[in-house]
Amino acid sequence: MRNILVAYATNSGTTVEVATAIAEELGRDGSQVDVRKLEDVTAVEPYSAVVIGAPMIVGWHRAAVNFVKKHQQALSRVPVAYFITAMSLTQTNPHSTGVVPIYVDPGFVKPPKNANRLSLKERYTAVSNYASQPLKAAPLVKPVSIGIFGGKLELYRLKFLQVLFVLLMFRAQMGSLHNWPVIRQWATQVSPLLADKPRS
Ligand SMILES: Cc1cc2nc3c(=O)[nH]c(=O)nc-3n(C[C@H](O)[C@H](O)[C@H](O)COP(=O)(O)O)c2cc1C
Repeated sequence: MRNILVAYATNSGTTVEVATAIAEELGRDGSQVDVRKLEDVTAVEPYSAVVIGAPMIVGWHRAAVNFVKKHQQALSRVPVAYFITAMSLTQTNPHSTGVVPIYVDPGFVKPPKNANRLSLKERYTAVSNYASQPLKAAPLVKPVSIGIFGGKLELYRLKFLQVLFVLLMFRAQMGSLHNWPVIRQWATQVSPLLADKPRS
């Protein structure tokens, strides 16, 4: 029986909802699935496959970056999938991260205003920029997929400086962009890939 870890980092507490939905789908075939906060995971070796997810918090959440760096040798020996939650996403060339398949919520991703001249924000929020972050942090790990989904932003969950940042600098929209059918569909598609050996 498969023994899958779904580990997540979070800033304001909402990415656990995404991790839990993914775990539910992965467990439909009877697989044992553990949902854990990354900070509580000491080893990945007990697991036959690992899913790691985290929000963009001016870069992929620092705890996720540190985790994949620290465990990259072990993660390179099992099938791994990454997911990213965010509030803004700009469509760019889907092949720009090479061989790793990227799955984006089609209702969440937006085209740039001018494809020939991306703004600073569009370059930062580009699919290719977001997807490259876990890959750069742990180049030995070749994930079977990277899912990028709309997240959730609620002012009352944030620290004062974070409120200023998201409102003034990032101009993010408030509310939930969680798209459960899309998130669950990704998990269903990824599920059989997590049974295979990792790609070399
Ligand atoms: C301080 C801060 C920085 C953020 N930075 C980004 C970002 O760089 N790009 C983005 O698309 N969303 C950004 N977001 C939005 C979060 O990624 C989104 O709200 C996510 O769902 C939060 O997940 P969490 O509740 O698990 O922390 C930011 C939110 C905060 C509070």
